[in-house]
Amino acid sequence: MTNSQIKVVAHRGLSSKYPENTLIAYEAALQLNIDYLEIDIHKTADNKLVVIHDDSVDRTSNGTGKIKDYTMEQLQQLDYGLWKGESFRGQTILEFKDVLKLVKQYNKKLLIEIKKPEQYPGIEQLLLKQLKEAQVQHSNIVIQSFDMESIKKIYATGVNYKLGVLISAKKYWYRRPNFKKIATFAHFLNPNYKLVTTKFVATAHKYNLKVMPYTVNDKVISAKLIKSNIDGIITDAPDIFCDC
Ligand code: G3P
Ligand code: CA
Repeated sequence: MTNSQIKVVAHRGLSSKYPENTLIAYEAALQLNIDYLEIDIHKTADNKLVVIHDDSVDRTSNGTGKIKDYTMEQLQQLDYGLWKGESFRGQTILEFKDVLKLVKQYNKKLLIEIKKPEQYPGIEQLLLKQLKEAQVQHSNIVIQSFDMESIKKIYATGVNYKLGVLISAKKYWYRRPNFKKIATFAHFLNPNYKLVTTKFVATAHKYNLKVMPYTVNDKVISAKLIKSNIDGIITDAPDIFCDC
């Protein structure tokens, strides 16, 4: 059975149970009845796209340092499972290309977040190049970022992937996004769930923007959001939201 009411997005894989953004977390999520897998991308010193949330390896590996200062090969020497538990020892970092193969194999949609594009000149072009090379179906890809300029850059290339803008609760000015302007280049406006009201969603829908709030790991909260007419939820616990 599909998720008829709303789309379920597995945030960093099945990250409530497995080390985020690793193969084991993705494979666990892809075996569920999810609609999208969500990932975060950065760029290495040798110009490779790599999948990790933070711009450093400090929190989720046994190493330290910034992603931009490491080559892919150096990043692959570290362990990305141990921080979550001894049983996850040996999980490696993934190249973006590997995740593309994985979602193709499972025929799932991919929600790609470009992280900190200001640190990675050219990351947008590299992403588009790799998507093209992998021949992923356009309809299976959504590219999003907190950085609107990065998304506008992609829009300006004329590619027809769906695009999204993320809205953080921390930055006050984001609380009153210009829906009309955003709708000129994006298809999704994905806010921190605490920013969601019925009016927020109605305004987004008026401009044909879909709304998939993050990060919703609780059924009571999701029920309230669903009443606000959201289009999907981004969750660390897709196993409790989809009919699996
Ligand atoms: O997909 C939205 C969400 O992932 C944005 O926040 O910090 O978890 O990447 P963050
Ligand atoms: Ca993310």
